[in-house]
Amino acid sequence: MLPVAVISKKRDGLELSEAEIRFMIDGLVDGSVPDYQISAWAMAVLLKGMSDMETACLTDAMLESGGRLARASERLRVDKHSTGGLGDKVSLILAPLLACCEVDVPMLSGRGLGITGGTLDKLEAYCGYRCDLTPPEIDLQLQRLGCVITGTTPDIAPADKKLYLLRDVTGTVPSIPLITASIMSKKLAATLDALVLDVKFGSGAFMQDLESARRLAGSLKGTGERMGVDTRVILSDMNQPLGRMVGNACEANEAVQILQGQGPSDVRQLTLALGAELLVAVGRYQRTLLAESALAEMIDSGAALRRYQAMIEMQGGEYKDQLPLAASSVLTSSSDGWLAGLDGQLMGQAVIQLGGGRRKLGDRIDPSVGLEMLVRIGDRIERQQPLVKIFASNATSRQA
Ligand code: URA
Repeated sequence: MLPVAVISKKRDGLELSEAEIRFMIDGLVDGSVPDYQISAWAMAVLLKGMSDMETACLTDAMLESGGRLARASERLRVDKHSTGGLGDKVSLILAPLLACCEVDVPMLSGRGLGITGGTLDKLEAYCGYRCDLTPPEIDLQLQRLGCVITGTTPDIAPADKKLYLLRDVTGTVPSIPLITASIMSKKLAATLDALVLDVKFGSGAFMQDLESARRLAGSLKGTGERMGVDTRVILSDMNQPLGRMVGNACEANEAVQILQGQGPSDVRQLTLALGAELLVAVGRYQRTLLAESALAEMIDSGAALRRYQAMIEMQGGEYKDQLPLAASSVLTSSSDGWLAGLDGQLMGQAVIQLGGGRRKLGDRIDPSVGLEMLVRIGDRIERQQPLVKIFASNATSRQA
């Protein structure tokens, strides 16, 4: 007798097997599955989601589409990934800071995406800084300095490079399983012992609400742990820029201020919290408070700043304590009251329009432009009070 109903143990009866996912990813890389079919599948994933098992298989297939960084040094390896937000310059500070605590930090970073600036773009504000280190150069720098911040090498997760380009033009970037596989395939290729994820939520972030940020955090953490890496998460607020500065040289300068023991306290606190999670994860400290004070000591003694300068110089950059910025003007308030909120998306767009980000792939970036926030949410504002300093080529005074 024919069954009247087919009961599947899989979600919707549509779950893809590991072999099917591998077939598609291998086909994407070798060109045997055409781009339009991959794009249609990416849209199906955006609309229907993926199970945890499918996400793990996809991450695995993307990771194995390329190689992994070799481990030349005996030291433990850690890394941090941020889902991106306005003014997020933490990577610049954290990599040399952790290296001072005798762990290796092979940070394979990206360029600006949407409204959020990229770590590599910020570091390229130092004239000559190279983001295209080869695997032997990465190895050598890790052995000498314990930290490197460079782009992914061509051999790391080539499937992600191809899939990302298709997602970008088919509106399929904001899918949690696709973001998870994209981030984790690259991070896991660095053969880490521990990873901390800074998942941001708010108007200046990729995930605008706390609930979506929580879902992304759960997916990233679950995938990392399934693959044997101690993966920790901090959810952080991005309803206003981190620190005061937004823009490439602006943010590099603020990172240096933090390394000098100055600068805004929110940047320092988040950096210490993320670093402490990693030092506890690899067993250096039992408690995050102890780890935070060890990290603070590396800042206050000047060791982390010296390591940062050494990293910039070993990667070919011309280090300066403060990079030059474009001429500035101020935006003042047209009324008095309290600062109730900021539109992070608009602020990010403003930086792009100033030339500090890309509208399309290959656009040149002007590192000297950006914004300095002069007020924080909750501040009392008087009429005519300066709100934002704008670093732009043709500076004039404006009113909000
Ligand atoms: N960053 C990535 O590397 N990939 C994504 O899909 C989103 C953010």
